[in-house]
Amino acid sequence: MKILMVGDIVGSPGRQVFGRVVTRMKKEKLTDFVVANAENAAGGKGVTGPIAEELLSVGADILTLGDHTWDQKELTPYIEKAERLIRPANFPPGCPGSGLKILDVGLGSVAVINLVGRTFMQANDCPFRTVDAVLKKCAGVKTILVDFHAEATSEKIAMGRYLDGRVTCMVGTHTHVQTSDETLLPGGTAYITDLGMTGPKESVIGRDAKTILARFITGMPAKFIVASGNPVLEGIVIDVDNGTGKAFGIERIRCSE
Ligand SMILES: [Fe+2]
Ligand SMILES: [Fe+2]
Repeated sequence: MKILMVGDIVGSPGRQVFGRVVTRMKKEKLTDFVVANAENAAGGKGVTGPIAEELLSVGADILTLGDHTWDQKELTPYIEKAERLIRPANFPPGCPGSGLKILDVGLGSVAVINLVGRTFMQANDCPFRTVDAVLKKCAGVKTILVDFHAEATSEKIAMGRYLDGRVTCMVGTHTHVQTSDETLLPGGTAYITDLGMTGPKESVIGRDAKTILARFITGMPAKFIVASGNPVLEGIVIDVDNGTGKAFGIERIRCSE
């Protein structure tokens, strides 16, 4: 099984490039299962039900989220019933949605887990203890994919080491900058510190560069505007043995339309 893991989709430029690249990859059998981070899909701020449905209709199998999960108020009723959209599992107990989804994809069951970091981010429950509890619910599932949405590279590398040999892959998201450290860890887990961004590269992490520059230089608040130039999809493709759930290959990708 070939699994595509896609970095944060930013705004309509990100959604468009995602749709075009994933449609082509599925048609050409370059991927069987697609997990994409959608936390910036709605104008850079969170996701809505209709936008989640749009991404699922063009080829996403599971969507994950992060610190922007609740940016769109209208998401709450959708996420309560969502079949293929998850939010970080270590959000406080009682908040809507789920941090784990197990799907039967014909080639076996696949579990997707979403977590959020705590270093330089909002306070949430411990992602390490949380993932232990979530993995207990994955008994019998061989292919387990983890999106750890975190700021600090060290926290993501630590989680990769913590999960090595226990999950098929652990990918980092959130920084919107793709790292070049994709690898199979000693225990066999496919790992990358950050998948990157699916959105306009002519930007400051997806936002209009002029506006962001003015904000840095003057310190004045400014509206975040999604940029438009040179949209690309960034992520990884991993080769997974369906029988064991072990990854045996990982390739970093960056595709324009
Ligand atoms: Fe984020
Ligand atoms: Fe993001």
